[in-house]
Amino acid sequence: MSGPREPAAEQLVQRVQERRRELNAVVLAHFYQPPEIQDLADFVGDSLQLSVQAAETEAAVIVFCGVRFMAESAKILNPARTVVLPEPRAGCPMADMVTAAQLREARERTPGLQVVCYVNSSAEVKAESDICCTSSNAVRVVRSLDPDRPILFVPDRNLAHFVSRQTGRQLMVLEGCCPIHDRVTLQDLQAARRAHPGAEVMVHPECRPEVTEAADQVLSTGGMLEYVGRSPAREFIVGTEEGLLYPLRKRYPDRQFHLLRAGFVCPDMKLITLPALVRALERLEERIEVEEGVRVRAETALRRMLELR
Ligand code: 13P
Ligand code: SF4
Repeated sequence: MSGPREPAAEQLVQRVQERRRELNAVVLAHFYQPPEIQDLADFVGDSLQLSVQAAETEAAVIVFCGVRFMAESAKILNPARTVVLPEPRAGCPMADMVTAAQLREARERTPGLQVVCYVNSSAEVKAESDICCTSSNAVRVVRSLDPDRPILFVPDRNLAHFVSRQTGRQLMVLEGCCPIHDRVTLQDLQAARRAHPGAEVMVHPECRPEVTEAADQVLSTGGMLEYVGRSPAREFIVGTEEGLLYPLRKRYPDRQFHLLRAGFVCPDMKLITLPALVRALERLEERIEVEEGVRVRAETALRRMLELR
């Protein structure tokens, strides 16, 4: 629990519970969501875990507390269900950094090209890709591809760099990154180590190469949450969005967690609030729709990834 709630907040929580029952709705939330949303969700997870939940749910309505590409993936996997994103402005800037037209051009230029797209991408980009990946399975996905054919990895050049280092495979990239993780510098990491000597440093693979190279562990959000349980360390420097601190502290109250840098916040993730969630359940807005021709091709790329689990 995130602490005692104001009476007004308590009413909103009750309304969420009522509408969820009436609609047979499931509320899915990413680890970067505000604590009060994580507390209310039926399932909280990283991008891969949320895709798996979305693929397996039997609920009539999926309310996705996260950003647009996540809700879109849920719709791609569940065309017959209603999928709602509580705040239409919640996007992922990285997902807008590559277009379907760029991928078509790349295929024309490079015969035999295999295209891997990070799930942080639009439905149109997924539709032009051979397979999707998330930060927790990107290495496995790239290893599954034909070693004799070229690979284009989009949109995150930092994740591509990390995967290339792990697999020894050369990856072609386009210019894309997460503006929030890309802002972290090696100096930030070194300053955090000086402030907390002895703490283990975990960073997300969306960070720059010099940052991932200097970290002790490079992990997805879900990977960090699991890793702490296996580590003998008592203190951790957390190199990802601050929302992850909440489940970390909840699950490991005897460990200490420090954010790698101040202001490590994804503003889009924070657009989802309790009133926005209630409104979404009342009005079923914003409904996510994906054009069927695009959806079918995007689903092939997503399912190929899910089959690799
Ligand atoms: P995860 O796959 O680790 O949950 O990351 C999603 C994301 O958007 C990171 O910025
Ligand atoms: Fe997109 Fe970065 Fe926000 Fe993740 S943290 S949703 S990659 S902008």
